[in-house]
Amino acid sequence: MPLVTVKELLKAAEDGNYAVGAFNCNNMEIIQAIVQAAEEENSPVIVQASQGAIKYAGLEYITALTKLAAEQTKVPVALHLDHGTSFEQVVKCIRHGFTSVMIDGSAYPLSENIGLTNKVIEVARAIGVSVEAELGKIGGTEDDITVDEKEAAFTDPQEAREFVDATGVDALAVAIGTAHGIYKGEPRLDFERLKKITSLIDIPIVLHGSSGVPDEAIKQAISLGVRKVNIDTNLREAFVKKTRQVLEEKPREIDPRKILGPARDAMKEVIREKIRLFGSSGKA
Ligand code: 13P
Repeated sequence: MPLVTVKELLKAAEDGNYAVGAFNCNNMEIIQAIVQAAEEENSPVIVQASQGAIKYAGLEYITALTKLAAEQTKVPVALHLDHGTSFEQVVKCIRHGFTSVMIDGSAYPLSENIGLTNKVIEVARAIGVSVEAELGKIGGTEDDITVDEKEAAFTDPQEAREFVDATGVDALAVAIGTAHGIYKGEPRLDFERLKKITSLIDIPIVLHGSSGVPDEAIKQAISLGVRKVNIDTNLREAFVKKTRQVLEEKPREIDPRKILGPARDAMKEVIREKIRLFGSSGKA
């Protein structure tokens, strides 16, 4: 089926009390792994691309591959820009057929974040594209965006309310103790803060930096209103681990298909596990 918006996927997730997985892609094998896993689980899914992924693979490739994968499956697939930081980048993605965009103005003061988000919403709304914004600063590194531990700041619930009232954004990424990339210790999520945020705002919450967060914590976050869960690092790990394993077993292998095929399968298994954890299995 044609690509759908994140907004409609998260509306159904809200009604059914589950979350939809948003998985980062960089190439064909990752896109295939994401959509095949969703199909096998009969689950909705979000394919997302960061600015770094777009720089690597090309906007046209990412869009064409994801549109094709969506058209060839019966499960609903959305294509989302992850951590867009410039208005121009967001507009380019919308023009190429992304059905959802994130505008990450979290590095700016509240009023500038609101202004930038509203500018994006004005364009996106006109053509039915959904918009995610970020408030608070999520630590760690996501491709070319790094927020070090000292800079990371948890989302203030009152500010979240002010932000949502001033923008009417479709989904909000919050900082409650997760970070992008590999965790040094076990992450501890601030569930009280999450509870406060969801009691004050009525739109779906997005959890970034979800690789490495214990399953129980993910489940609790979903029970408190998280509706989109972002996963990147776990896919990279599965990809590289399998690639290394194949090359260790067959050091003379030169056929890329015999290396990338098993890597794709390994990522697919990780994605299927996540889909089951998020509760979206069977919800397509
Ligand atoms: P992880 O790399 O920790 O899975 O985070 C992904 C993410 O939040 C993308 O925005």
